[in-house]
This record gives sequence, C-alpha cells and structure tokens, in this order.
Amino acid sequence: MTIIKRKFDVVIVGAGGAGMRAALQLSEVGLKVAVLSKVFPTRSHTVSAQGGIAASLGNVTEDNWHWHMYDTVKGSDYLGDQDAIEFMCRQANEVVYELEHFGMPFDRLENGKIYQRPFGGQSQNFGGAQATRSCAAADRTGHALLHTLYQRNVSANTQFFVEWMGLDLIRDAQGDVLGVTAMEMETGEVMLLQAKATLFATGGGGRIFQANTNALINTGDGLGMAARAGIPLEDMEFWQFHPTGIHGVGVLISEAVRGEGGYLINKDGERFMERYAPNAKDLASRDVVARAMTLEIKEGRGCGDDNDHLLLKLDHLGADIIKSRLPGIRELAIKFAHADPIHDPIPVVPTAHYMMGGIPTNHYGQVVAPYKTGPEEVVTGFYAVGECACVSVHGANRLGTNSLLDLVVFGRAAANQIIEDLKINPHHKPLPADAAEKSLSRLARLENQKDGENVAQVTDALCKTMQTYCGVFRFEDTLLQGVEKIKAVAERVGRTEIKDKSRVFNTARIEALELDNMKEVAVATMFSAEARRESRGAHARDDFPERDDDNWLKHTLFFSDGHRLDYKPVRLKPLTVDSFPPKKRTY
Ligand code: FUM
Repeated sequence: MTIIKRKFDVVIVGAGGAGMRAALQLSEVGLKVAVLSKVFPTRSHTVSAQGGIAASLGNVTEDNWHWHMYDTVKGSDYLGDQDAIEFMCRQANEVVYELEHFGMPFDRLENGKIYQRPFGGQSQNFGGAQATRSCAAADRTGHALLHTLYQRNVSANTQFFVEWMGLDLIRDAQGDVLGVTAMEMETGEVMLLQAKATLFATGGGGRIFQANTNALINTGDGLGMAARAGIPLEDMEFWQFHPTGIHGVGVLISEAVRGEGGYLINKDGERFMERYAPNAKDLASRDVVARAMTLEIKEGRGCGDDNDHLLLKLDHLGADIIKSRLPGIRELAIKFAHADPIHDPIPVVPTAHYMMGGIPTNHYGQVVAPYKTGPEEVVTGFYAVGECACVSVHGANRLGTNSLLDLVVFGRAAANQIIEDLKINPHHKPLPADAAEKSLSRLARLENQKDGENVAQVTDALCKTMQTYCGVFRFEDTLLQGVEKIKAVAERVGRTEIKDKSRVFNTARIEALELDNMKEVAVATMFSAEARRESRGAHARDDFPERDDDNWLKHTLFFSDGHRLDYKPVRLKPLTVDSFPPKKRTY
C-alpha cells in the first residue's frame, strides 16, 4: 500500500469545541494546522451540548470564580486536581466573553447581559444558596459554540480533513510523538501526518454502553490510539450517568429543564429528590440524582407498566418559557417520547453520558505519563484536551456545563503551550522507518481474517457487558464477572472479520477500527472499577458504600499492556489559594 506523507506544524485529531478552540489559536499565529474529523466539524458531538457553559459572570445572582472552584472540587468528590480546577474557574469569564466577541449568539437578559440559568451543584458562598452560573444559548449552547468556532477557523485558514479517522499515534524510539496515521473514510486511503505537535481532542467514548446519550462517533478513538502507544488511561472507572436520558431511546434531555424549574416525580407523583437532597433537590449533582432515581426504580416506585423509569415534569413552567428557553427539548420529547412537555411529563432514566477519565494531562494540555526517566513526565510532542483528556478538573463526577468550559479553557491553554514549545523545538523530528507499521498491520489483519466474527455482533457484546456489569451501582460479584466477560470480548475483537468485502461500503472497515478503540476504553473501565474499593462520585459500590480518603484519594492509571494498574496522588494544592480539604458531601 502506498502511503501519502504530509507535514504540518500541528495535527489536531477531533473538531469539536476543544479541537477547534485550539486550532483557532494556532492558525491565528500563522502555524500550519491540520484538523482531522470523522464528521463535518459542526456535527462533532459538542453540537449536542444543550444547557450552557459555566462561568461566574454574576449576571443573575452574585458569583465569583472561587465559589465556582469550591463547587467543582466538591462535585468531583475531592478527586479533581485543585490546581487545574483553579486554572479553569479563574479563566471562565474571560473565555466566555471571548466567545461572545467571536460572535456566539448567547441568549440575553432584559439588561442585555448574557443569560444565565442555574445548574446542579452550583452554590453561592461555598455551599450556600443556589447559584445561577450557566451561560446559555437557549438549549442549543454547544451548537452555537461549534458554529462560532468553525466560522472563525475558516477565516483563520485552518485546514480541515473532513471524514478522516485517526488510526495510530507515531512515536520514535525515545517515545516522543511525531504525528499520526489516518484513513480517509470514503476511500480507505491511508496518510501519514508528520507534526511538531500532535493534539488529541477526540471526545468521549460513551458508545461502550448500550444506553448512552452519545453520538455514533464517540468511540474513544484518542484513548485507543494512546493506549496502543503505551500511554496509560487515568480514572476510567468514573462515568457519568446523566439523570435524564429519554427512556428507551437514550437521547439527552438537558439538566436545563430542572434549572428552569422542572422536577422529577415517581409513580406516586412524589417529588422524591426532596428526600435524597433536601436543599438542592433536583439540582443536586448528577451522581446523586442518578443514584436516587435508580433506587426509586429498584424499590418499585418507577413509572409505566414495567415501573422502569421516572417522569420529568415541566408543564408548570408554561408554554412561553418552554418555547423560548427549551425549544430543542420540546422537539426531542415530541419526536422521541411522543410527549409534548407543555402538557405531558417526559419519561426519563439515568443514561451513560460522560467520561471523567482519559489521557493524563497537566493544565497546559501536555500529556503526562511514565516515559524516559520518571513516572510523571511530559511526553514531548503530545497534547490532549476535552473529554478525551483527564486533566483532572472533573474528578469522580463532573458538574453540568463545566464540560463546555473545559473545552475552551484547555483548548486555548494547550494551543498557547504548543506555540511556546515550538519556539524551542521548531523542527520536525525524523520519522522512524516503521512509522505506519502499526496501522498497516491492523488493516492487513482485517483484510486477511478468515472465519472471524461479525464486527456488529462483537460490538453488541461489548456494550451489553458494560451496561450489565458496570452501571450506576456496582457490586463485587458483577465487577469480578465483568472483568472476565470483558477480557473474553476483547479477545473476540482481535478475531473480527469484515464479511463480504466486495459488497460493503468502507463503513464496515471504520466500525472494525472503532471497535479496537472501544475495547481499550471498556477494558480500562472494568479493570479500574473492579480495583477501586470505595464509593466516590459516580463510582458507587454496594460492598464499599463509603468514600475512603485514607486509601483511595488517588488517581488510577491503567496500562493496556498487561492490564496493569498503578496509582498517582491527587494534586490537592491549588495554584494560589488554600486547598479545599475533603469533607462529607451533602446537597
Ligand atoms: O444537561 C445538559 O444540558 C448537559 C450539559 C452537560 O453535560 O454539561
């Protein structure tokens, strides 16, 4: 196979909010930037972010970055790195005003300022009254953000490779990163993109769960590429189950509904969150609400013939608020639940939504991993931002609307770091002779496999295993069984075959390559979850129901090679202020 080689200053894999924010910063200083995307950039999964972007603008209630920082640390169940959290919360207002100046069409208050709504876990004065911190463009904030960044990138001459999938990371003998291999999805053509800096912004991997709110593209590609290249994955046991996915469909119903005053009820019409979180009620943090809902269903108070979901009630908000503030939600509810929320409640269940773990980085977006000389070293030439990265600002549980903030703060920070790094390392490093070998042998295996299993069948087994053995509540026996089951699925992934090659479109090949990545994400998740013997944030174990700071206030590192686990300390020291020491978390 002939392989085209191209050289860029920077290659970015992924064109969501993080990738495009970084690309903009880099292109604007004149660097030659390539952005690879499996879909047209404005269809990246950021487009589905609904409710808002967090920033302590204080347009509706008094607010400041330090309160935002406290809420984020508490929301993370104290697993978040406090230096990174301070960095993010301090920069929030600036990056939001920057988006406004880029032309992002935020909703407005009567006085012309950016509209803000309350979201879960937001408080004033370090745990006091509810704060109103999420800056919104109706319930299509991600859509507005993505279109704004795309337009700016077009005028800054960023070069997009649309419908190209990253295949593998290229590292030299020292372990430095020199670029990626990639495939054009339509033709199957393979290209080697050599770069002085390689930035992953590939998003999450929620497709490993059978019921999820994620786009089809969210197959954990960056994590798969990193894991195959020897980079450990951090804190993969922590997955957020969003309380309100449409029952039986998985489509997201924004927390903005509860921010605007909607609430959950059980089959008796009871507003049950008052029992679980007497102060914050439906705006407790997501892990708390998802667990409460799961218990309501388990104890027989679920709704419907099978008592298997809860209802989200918002008719009392009135048609005007629903039409102006939640138009997309109304449309989704009508289409997917056959319920017009102006009159009817929406049937919902907790649904896999967001990956708190990922590729380990510092708050400059540099990947940090065991490398040449030490256990925590910056990997030369390699950066990661957004959901694929674990910086870690979300720790064991992310607060709603901190994800869009994470994208733009760390997208910009990584780009600034790359600009500085390229001043010191201005040249391309020589490529090893076998730079494309890993990808070519994966492709050759797929072409040559005989009597293998169908890709869709194995994907289905993987998703069912994750859903059954690694859900909202986790149990010792199911986790132990889950480890054995996922190991067996992983072996099957290595024997898949593209059936009837002459008649399939190249999508079959892409799905097989994606499954390689899903396997890395799923195996890391199951092993890390089985090993963590405590309950913290989104990781709730029946056999270890309490948080255990003495033994488990540490980050997990999972190495794909040998399924090895290691741990590293949480960075409890912020940049300039005092630490928030762990304490009991109530809402
Ligand atoms: O509920 C939502 O609108 C989702 C927001 C988020 O995940 O941050």
